[in-house]
Amino acid sequence: MMFIKIALSLMLSLGMFLGIQEDTLTDPQNDNGLVIDAKVKPIIDAKCIGCHSADSKNEKAKEKLIWANLPTLEKKAAASLLDEMVEVLEKGEMPPKKFLERYPDKKLTEKESKSLRKWADKTANKMMK
Ligand code: HEC
Repeated sequence: MMFIKIALSLMLSLGMFLGIQEDTLTDPQNDNGLVIDAKVKPIIDAKCIGCHSADSKNEKAKEKLIWANLPTLEKKAAASLLDEMVEVLEKGEMPPKKFLERYPDKKLTEKESKSLRKWADKTANKMMK
């Protein structure tokens, strides 16, 4: 009985640990401290990651931004990419218009865009400290 209790609590804490890892997408090997908030992660997963991930087929998108690599960038590079992100979101340029014509449900709502911009701005400032 005791053994089962210990095994269960071990499994639970491992699950929590893995959950946290997934949420923050940080690379422990080269970590600039950038954290992808749990609040914005679902937005990114739904509307950005399809093109901006390591296994995306969109080479142009990958050249500019791979979300999982953000925490491994030099702080200055991360900050300038995040500043650019605020800019393209303000202009409504991401996801790209052509893509939205085919997949209108991928458009960011005003609320989502605002959350992402707020996070990117806050995180860019953190990187510059
Ligand atoms: C359909 C594919 C696609 C999706 C979805 C997409 N992007 Fe992009 N993104 C691109 C491409 C392609 C580029 C490169 C554009 C270029 O070089 O002109 C790009 C470039 C960028 C850049 C760099 C801008 C620059 O001018 O350097 C940022 C930042 C960015 N995307 C953020 C986002 C965010 C945030 C989302 C989700 C809200 C998103 N993207 C969703 C395809 C996509």
